[in-house]
Amino acid sequence: MRIAIASDHAAIDLRQQLIAHLERSGHQVDDLGCDEGQRVDYPDYAGAAAGAVLAGGADKAVLLCGTGIGMSIAANKVVGIRAALVHDVTTARLAGEHNAANVLCIGARVVGPLVAAECLDAWLGAAFDPRHQRRLDKVAAME
Ligand code: RB5
Repeated sequence: MRIAIASDHAAIDLRQQLIAHLERSGHQVDDLGCDEGQRVDYPDYAGAAAGAVLAGGADKAVLLCGTGIGMSIAANKVVGIRAALVHDVTTARLAGEHNAANVLCIGARVVGPLVAAECLDAWLGAAFDPRHQRRLDKVAAME
């Protein structure tokens, strides 16, 4: 899978750990930053990753900040993005099965790297259950 990943300054370490994890699993990773040594604004990175998904350059995107909240709020402003903020493996799996989340958000100050990697695996391995399509259509109609 082609996966775009981005973080703000609060989640650089986690981003690097998750990039290594994804590459070890055979995914093609597009690292959209941010660079070290600067304080940045999460909407800039959420927008870039959302754009990569919508343009087709990435199948899915991972967004990381301190809590994951800012990234999820920002990404969900983009029409066509379904960003899920998760803290555990079950929610990550259901974000794929029930919500067809095309962006996963994790807070680096809240979730440790092992759980974060397990969340990614659960989400990427989840198959959307079409029984939930009607709800997705209603969400799309709200955009
Ligand atoms: C940055 O300090 C912090 O606000 C950000 O990483 C994130 O937690 C926002 O939701």
